[in-house]
Amino acid sequence: MSKICKHPFQSIQVQNTGEIYCCCCFWTDFYSFGNIFEKSFDEIWNGEKAKEFRRQFIKKNYKYCKLDVCDAALEEIEPSLTAPYPKRIEFSYDRHCNVRCIFCRNEKNKEEEEFNRNKEKRIEENFDRVFTPVIKNAEFVELNSAGELFASKHSMEIVKKIININPNIKFGVISNGILFSKEITQKIGLEDRLSSAIISIHAAKEKTYNKLVEKGNFKAVIENVKYLSELKKCGKLNNLQLNFVVTSINYKEMKDFAKFAKEMGATAFFINYHRQIDSDELENKLDVTLKSHRGYNKLVKILKDPIFKEDCCFVNDYLKDLKPVYKSFFDW
Ligand SMILES: C[S@@+](CC[C@H](N)C(=O)[O-])C[C@H]1O[C@@H](n2cnc3c(N)ncnc32)[C@H](O)[C@@H]1O
Ligand code: SF4
Ligand code: SF4
Repeated sequence: MSKICKHPFQSIQVQNTGEIYCCCCFWTDFYSFGNIFEKSFDEIWNGEKAKEFRRQFIKKNYKYCKLDVCDAALEEIEPSLTAPYPKRIEFSYDRHCNVRCIFCRNEKNKEEEEFNRNKEKRIEENFDRVFTPVIKNAEFVELNSAGELFASKHSMEIVKKIININPNIKFGVISNGILFSKEITQKIGLEDRLSSAIISIHAAKEKTYNKLVEKGNFKAVIENVKYLSELKKCGKLNNLQLNFVVTSINYKEMKDFAKFAKEMGATAFFINYHRQIDSDELENKLDVTLKSHRGYNKLVKILKDPIFKEDCCFVNDYLKDLKPVYKSFFDW
């Protein structure tokens, strides 16, 4: 049996439009298996569109996949056109956030928030009907790579519903860490069900953090990372990852950040800045991976430090090779 990406056979990503994708919708260029407001889940998951995707996949024709940007999960599996209920469910549409990172989003837009709120209400109203059988059979739920889980009533409600439906479920959470406290984690029943925690911090020093994360709280994040580190050390948490988006503002702290992650028993995950806010000015200022940037040579030198080759560090390919960023990916 050869290795193949397991997502089309085992995973779904749910969007607030009701569309179901097998992995990140950008990676498959919005190839939807179907919409939960139009069809039953069973009709979607083993429907014609899902089968077509899998058919091409089995023939090793990856025409629906953006292999240059995706994060294929290769595994030895027996692929077939139809599949049992997915093991992994990802909810990643909720853009509520308690802060503003300067590389992630513009000021709040009330109209957009209202628009999204209406979509979320529709998900809430249909949640039990659509997802009860799916969640009962799932092993792992991942949320929320679009906004901040702990700052969103909607996402917190989804967590409660999921635990109610399947108390054995495990969670993977990505968060800015500010509200990811021991108290809240225990209160919502997440502590015993947490498999992976990814915390985005982007700095080793409070002053630098404050330049990147408006309305953030560095001390709270560090406190909460220490709590998660304890969970990891006592075997209650499998994966603890600390994210660092590399920009001109923080790149000189990469090494200290790696050391901090090591101390916490975590992986430091260095990601290249990619353009999310449509501004040449911001990009030219922040994107230190541009050869024309005055910090570029220093960054190349920093990345030669042996610590970035250690197991406690993961440096994404764009940074390792200092390739140009694939810009259109996040321009939506
Ligand atoms: C959009 S956030 C949502 C989850 C959570 N709020 C957080 O900050 O981790 C998901 C990840 O995208 C990263 N991110 C945001 N803007 C980015 C950008 N312009 N370039 C690269 N990564 C970015 C964040 O740092 C975070 O690690
Ligand atoms: S190969 Fe990439 S785009 Fe295709 S299903 Fe897997 S992760 Fe998604
Ligand atoms: S990166 Fe995360 S914490 Fe920062 S603004 Fe975006 S969603 Fe919010």
